Amino acid sequence: MRIGIMTGGGDCPGLNAVIRAVVRKGDAVYGDEFIGFLDSWDGVMAQRFIELPASAVRGLLPRGGTILGTRRGSPYDSKDGVQQVQKCFREQRLDALIVIGGNGSLTVSSLLFAETHLPIIGVPKTIDNDVFGTELSFGFHTAVQIATDAIDRLHTTAESHDRVMVVELMGRDTGWIAVYAGLAGGATVILIPEEPFDIAEVCAEVASRHQGGRFASIVVVAEGAQPIVGTMTPIDYATDHLGRPRYGGICVGIAEEIERRTGFEARVVQIGHVQRGGTPTAFDRILCTRFGLAAVDAVHEGAFGYMVALDATKISRVPLSDIVGKIRTVDLKLFHEIGDVFFG
Ligand code: F6P
Repeated sequence: MRIGIMTGGGDCPGLNAVIRAVVRKGDAVYGDEFIGFLDSWDGVMAQRFIELPASAVRGLLPRGGTILGTRRGSPYDSKDGVQQVQKCFREQRLDALIVIGGNGSLTVSSLLFAETHLPIIGVPKTIDNDVFGTELSFGFHTAVQIATDAIDRLHTTAESHDRVMVVELMGRDTGWIAVYAGLAGGATVILIPEEPFDIAEVCAEVASRHQGGRFASIVVVAEGAQPIVGTMTPIDYATDHLGRPRYGGICVGIAEEIERRTGFEARVVQIGHVQRGGTPTAFDRILCTRFGLAAVDAVHEGAFGYMVALDATKISRVPLSDIVGKIRTVDLKLFHEIGDVFFG
């Protein structure tokens, strides 16, 4: 078969590891031929691609970013985008397209499949871990490790200076990275979008810790966390070209409030895109490899319109249409079961 591969949305550790697994199995087991579209859907629409023989994926397992480039955007952004995608399939004689992407790219894939029946398979990528239908998306584990390492380092400087460190982590509208890294890093408080926060309670938590003789605190805040209405001025975020808020900066107001209300010195830390940079963890390399192998098998079994997924410890398939319009949010029961023992 002749199979296209593309990466979409924000970059993420492990994209290259998926490409490698797809190409290696397709080449060795099925005798497939691969092309990689450059810069996401832009490359599909404009038929800009590179050939991907097995030799082209050598050394890709640990490499961060994506050798194919990536963009946010979709064929639905332009009038004849869908026709251009169909034309690409025809002219490139594609038997399938493997889309490695997050909610945006997978939603586009679902719409395209429903409308055109093009043979598309999805692979769930995102550090945010917010793709519905899979227990994990690849990249999340790496982001958590990077954030946990940062929190570990912040403990020592916070303790040396008797400071409160307010650490803002990524995750869009879910708090997965904040919860995992915050729990793993022994945070005093973790604020997530799933539970709007009251800044007075945050300050009380920090103050009671200080009264108990611990003069340093780590407050972890997910970028999408929101104050309970009326308790603190919310940020009016600018939006991206899809109309989604461009998060970032909530830590600043929280640190100011903590300092003003408690008198403790506070500092902010935004590790930002470091969370999705560089090499994937060993866990993500394996997950990417399993997803990649499963994606090429799905192509050969004709399971189009599906996304490969992780279900407990097994790789499964989920119809793309099931995930549209949904996000996977933090399991609050688990969060509190663990967190409430250690917070403060
Ligand atoms: O979806 C991944 C992510 O890193 C989010 O956590 C974050 O809100 C967003 O992308 C940042 O996007 P950009 O790279 O466009 O600034």
